[in-house]
Amino acid sequence: MKKDFTKLLDISKDECSYLLERTAFLKKLRLSGKEHRPLKNKNLAMIFEKASTRTRVSFEVGMRDLGGHPIYMSAGETQIGRGEPIKDTARVLSRYTDAIMIRTYSQNNVDQLAYWASVPVINGLSDLYHPCQILADLFTISENKGDMTDLKIAYVGDGNNVANSWIEAAILFDLNLSVATPKGYAPDEALLKRAKKSGRFLLTSDPADAIEGADVVNTDVWASMGQESQKEERKIAFDGYMIDTKLLKHAKNNVIVLHCLPAHRNEEIAEDVFEKYSDVIFQQAENRLHAQKALLEWLIKGSS
Ligand code: CP
Ligand code: NVA
Repeated sequence: MKKDFTKLLDISKDECSYLLERTAFLKKLRLSGKEHRPLKNKNLAMIFEKASTRTRVSFEVGMRDLGGHPIYMSAGETQIGRGEPIKDTARVLSRYTDAIMIRTYSQNNVDQLAYWASVPVINGLSDLYHPCQILADLFTISENKGDMTDLKIAYVGDGNNVANSWIEAAILFDLNLSVATPKGYAPDEALLKRAKKSGRFLLTSDPADAIEGADVVNTDVWASMGQESQKEERKIAFDGYMIDTKLLKHAKNNVIVLHCLPAHRNEEIAEDVFEKYSDVIFQQAENRLHAQKALLEWLIKGSS
């Protein structure tokens, strides 16, 4: 049966651990300059309904590195943009390609695509989830901090796609995760219910509370793609949520700060904090490439 990656919880803890180990292997291989082309003659369709820099380029380069071919499809320039149903697009693309990645608004589009496609479907970001990002984030944490079991991880900001995928990671690995969002901007309710059962998950509206003793602090934009019209009202609602030096005093001295990018300086993250942690933030961006190569290889060829 084909596998999909529509959200992090599509895969088991063991499968995710395998992907993280494989990411390390593929990163080392690439840095050593060795060729590794298990996806020769394989094709990946990439549908974009929203803007992207990292996701597009890391999937394109990743697919080429593995010997395959990426096909970029801007939804507005395809029949999808003119209303061709997802279920028809799924059945057509399945006949040309070996996997489909989609960046879209509604998670329902990702789920419909996965249901109707006979090839693996990857969620490259929806309004609800951003699982490829969290795969890279988990790997970046393991590179910098080792085993995640005893780490305190904090997420401060909007209860958006990145926050939801972080909560999925906490459920998968039983992580010690604290999430701070303003009232009215909480993550997905169903996910929160599941996460709260673990006893290692905290939801608060106090950023200092979430960051207290943290080894890792994460944030993301306050207005995601599609929410541009709410930018100003969100700036008011998120007052006090900027990751700045004062807030970071609550974290451990050797804390690392992560941001999936693009970053809005002096909104969700202070300029000096961003620059101080820029090495790890750009390492995190680089790791999208290595983690997605592991994912593509596994979804298209299986584990080796
Ligand atoms: N982090 C991330 O997904 O970046 P892009 O929007 O540039 O793809
Ligand atoms: N939450 C952001 C992430 C961008 C990579 C958005 O959806 O716009």
